[in-house]
Order: sequence, then C-alpha cells, then structure tokens
Amino acid sequence: MRKMVDIQFGSSRYDELVELRYKVLLEPLGLKFLDMHRQQEVNYLHVGCIEQLDDRLVGGLLLVPLDNENIRMMQVAVDDKYQGEGIGTELVKYAEKRAKEAGYHHLIMHAMLSVVGFYEHLGFHQEGDIFEESGITFAKMVKNL
Ligand SMILES: CC(C)(COP(=O)(O)OP(=O)(O)OC[C@H]1O[C@@H](n2cnc3c(N)ncnc32)[C@H](O)[C@@H]1OP(=O)(O)O)[C@@H](O)C(=O)NCCC(=O)NCCS
Repeated sequence: MRKMVDIQFGSSRYDELVELRYKVLLEPLGLKFLDMHRQQEVNYLHVGCIEQLDDRLVGGLLLVPLDNENIRMMQVAVDDKYQGEGIGTELVKYAEKRAKEAGYHHLIMHAMLSVVGFYEHLGFHQEGDIFEESGITFAKMVKNL
C-alpha cells in the first residue's frame, strides 16, 4: 500500500526527499544539490509518496507559490524502481488537490520535453514556446484547477 503525504521542511522525510530528488533528477544531469539551497525551500509545499510496506519514500515533488493565483510544481521524481506504476500520476493529483485547497487557480510546470506527454496525459496544456535553461529544453505546462 502507498500513501501520499505532506512533508514538513527540515524533517527526516524532507532529507529523504532531497536525496530522492538528487538521485532521480539532478545526478543524471550532472547537477548538485547544494545545502545552501535548502533554506530557499522553507516556504514551499513538499509532497511525498510512502511505500507503507517498508516505510520508504518512493516519490515526491515541490510546490512553489508564485503569486495569489499561481503555484509552480517542480522536481517531480519517482524512484527508478517504482516508475510506471502510477505513482507519478497519484503524486500530481495529490499536488493538484493541495494547491486547490490552498486557493490557487493555476498549476504551472516547466517540463523537460521527454515528459511533456506525461503531463498532457494529466490534463496540462502547453503554453508558449519551448525554452532552454542550463542546456536543457523545457515546455511550460499549465493546468487550471
Ligand atoms: C516522469 C515520472 C514523474 C512519471 O511518474 P511514473 O510514476 O513513472 O508515471 P505513471 O506510472 O503515473 O504514468 C502515468 C502515465 O503516463 C505515462 N508516462 C510516464 N512517463 C511518461 C513520459 N516520459 N512520457 C509520456 N508518457 C509517460 C505512462 O505510460 C502512463 O500511461 P498509462 O496510464 O496510459 O499507462 C517518473 O517516471 C520520473 O520520475 N521520471 C524521471 C524524472 C523526470 O523526468 N521527472 C520529470 C521532471 S520535469
């Protein structure tokens, strides 16, 4: 059984989430997570998926408030061993619910081109032109809540 949970900044689960995001997203791109970045995340919403059999974090993401209407979803990551089992879908749905409850109207995502299909599948639409950041090509994806 798996459950979606809010993760408190600074908790041991948060450390697990930082580790997972590093392993799934940053390390393959040769990027580092620097401890100085942690403090920037204090006001973000952190969400995770726990495999209850062994109490392990197997997926997670961040929600970053932009203004009163818009919130940005970032660093959606599912442990390699658990990809393709519906966890990413459940995580994004949970994030949508949390963002809506918090009063936001639009969920925004900068998706790597390789995962645009995943977000379209979840009802996001592409807005504007694709763009490049640190040598990686992204598309802005938006979902009205
Ligand atoms: C992308 C990611 C979050 C998806 O999570 P997941 O748990 O593997 O996905 P799900 O099992 O919920 O897949 C849901 C559907 O999306 C599809 N899908 C998954 N990855 C996809 C992709 N890259 N492109 C298109 N469709 C994709 C699945 O085939 C599935 O379709 P189905 O319901 O018809 O079978 C996960 O694979 C991951 O962490 N990948 C590496 C990191 C990454 O690229 N993150 C995105 C940062 S922008």
